[in-house]
Amino acid sequence: MPKMVICGRGGCGKSTLITLMAQKIEEQGKKVLIVDSDESNLGLSIMVGTGPAEKTLMDYMGGRPVVGAKLRARIKKEGDEKVPLFQKSSLDELSSEFVSWNGKKGFMQIGKIEHSHEGCACPMGAIARDFLTNLTVNDNEWVLVDTEAGVEHFGRGIVGGVDSVVMVVDPSNDAVLLSEKISGLSKEAGKPFGVILNRVDDETKTILEDALSKKNIPILGVIPYSITMARENLKGNRLDNNMIEGDVGEILNKVESQQ
Ligand SMILES: Nc1ncnc2c1ncn2[C@@H]1O[C@H](COP(=O)(O)OP(=O)(O)O)[C@@H](O)[C@H]1O
Ligand SMILES: [Mg+2]
Repeated sequence: MPKMVICGRGGCGKSTLITLMAQKIEEQGKKVLIVDSDESNLGLSIMVGTGPAEKTLMDYMGGRPVVGAKLRARIKKEGDEKVPLFQKSSLDELSSEFVSWNGKKGFMQIGKIEHSHEGCACPMGAIARDFLTNLTVNDNEWVLVDTEAGVEHFGRGIVGGVDSVVMVVDPSNDAVLLSEKISGLSKEAGKPFGVILNRVDDETKTILEDALSKKNIPILGVIPYSITMARENLKGNRLDNNMIEGDVGEILNKVESQQ
């Protein structure tokens, strides 16, 4: 099964989609690891229902200064830039210090910005790329990577560590414009790309379908607006596939067939 990045503009529904997909994958009896690579937002583990693990991957590796030193040492050694920070490992081999499992659902965070002036999020990007590249999955396992808004993960090369890119498109012209950009970036990275429409009604769905077909952007699925889901999220409750109309299983099939 694929390791995939879910991307899109801020608030389009990336974390929501990941939560719904993860639940469906678990219902299908498969294992899913959710990798939170968004260095700001905090709510994904609540939406998913696992809670956070004891440590982020960054903390597990010794914290920002240790990771920074490792990254600098790697760059200084000429020709050694590709020496990995991680060994190849399967989902079962990951430490429970940084992955919190609830049934077949695992949740981990790459790292969060914790202090004013601590520096940029580039080290998080570097370890995310290396970690994902060396993470091995079998046919019954999925890895879903949640990202920060926009396209910075392309710049940082995180996409190099996954098999495909899925973008969430909400009803906005900005999302349509961004889809063309991300389609191009995915092509450049050699990764299959498709979009999922989110928070749509019949009218906005038609407008988006028209706009995206003109740009030859493949639509892999549609999630309608759900007032129940919006309210439950607002209350800090975990999300559930029953809160939406539409079949997330079909979305998974489409995403899988894209590989
Ligand atoms: N299909 C939907 N119907 C109703 N509300 C939604 C839907 N998808 C997302 N939302 C709401 O939109 C907001 C942003 O969603 P979120 O998944 O956190 O976005 P992102 O991770 O892209 O920033 C949340 O309040 C969420 O509950
Ligand atoms: Mg999010």
